[in-house]
Amino acid sequence: MARLDGKVALITGIGGGMGREAARRFAAEGAEVVGCDLFEDGLNETVRIVREAGGEITGHAPVNLADATEAERWVDEAAAVYGGFDILYNNASTQRFGAIDEISVEDWNFTIDNELNLVFYTVRAAWKHLRARGGGSIVNIGSIAGTRGVEFMPQNAHGSAKAGVINLTQQLAVEGAPHRIRAVSVSPGFIVTPATRFLVKDPPPAFRKNIERIPLGRVGQPEDIVNAALFFASDEASWITGVNLVVDGGGTVLG
Ligand SMILES: NC(=O)c1ccc[n+]([C@@H]2O[C@H](COP(=O)([O-])OP(=O)(O)OC[C@H]3O[C@@H](n4cnc5c(N)ncnc54)[C@H](O)[C@@H]3O)[C@@H](O)[C@H]2O)c1
Repeated sequence: MARLDGKVALITGIGGGMGREAARRFAAEGAEVVGCDLFEDGLNETVRIVREAGGEITGHAPVNLADATEAERWVDEAAAVYGGFDILYNNASTQRFGAIDEISVEDWNFTIDNELNLVFYTVRAAWKHLRARGGGSIVNIGSIAGTRGVEFMPQNAHGSAKAGVINLTQQLAVEGAPHRIRAVSVSPGFIVTPATRFLVKDPPPAFRKNIERIPLGRVGQPEDIVNAALFFASDEASWITGVNLVVDGGGTVLG
């Protein structure tokens, strides 16, 4: 039996990067996947890859999850297609960067909308469906940016939003437990995806130093994160809730 047999999984931001890998892997492990993305081309490519491999997937795009109404519509439609769902995997995010005295209020709010509020919107919409199902699991993607500062990137809004995601997850674990809803966050270190490839190609010196110090000796790949998310979403993690798992090759334990 595959690890997600019989489960329906909603995954956000499947158009590329870790979301694409999550859709591919969750389907390969037996889940029926319902994905969404802002962009149709990337989403269609993911749907093609999953189906060609024999997986079951439905995709919706364009869906802007930073809009509460669109987020709720996607969740409700997904629930209607499969008669409910078991897993909500909040992967999607977009962020804008700027030094604290330069970032505009608009860019700050955009980042909070597209990294934190979108998680609130999908969870809020999913809650009644998960309760009706008798429980389920929520996997939120945080970041090591949510627990510390860095020199190579003015990540004030991004870090604040991800700290919010990590803390929201803890609260969801408490509010969800009576309904058998588990909630965990996975916080990646540096992972090579379309969003970060530019940094690998031309690393600023402070960033290069960070990468070279990773104890396990390499940067992360999307599957490093999806491996953890898959475990948490499966029944193997049925007594785990509220944790934030850092997956970063050991980088953040260095002083
Ligand atoms: N790549 C890293 O090094 C890294 C490190 C820490 C955390 N993360 C987090 O991991 C997750 C995945 O990152 P990635 O590098 O694969 O990103 P990515 O940009 O490659 O993919 C994100 C996907 O989400 C979609 N998306 C963004 N905003 C959306 C919205 N409002 N509505 C619907 N879809 C939307 C994008 O179109 C894209 O397809 C994100 O939450 C990110 O913050 C990434």
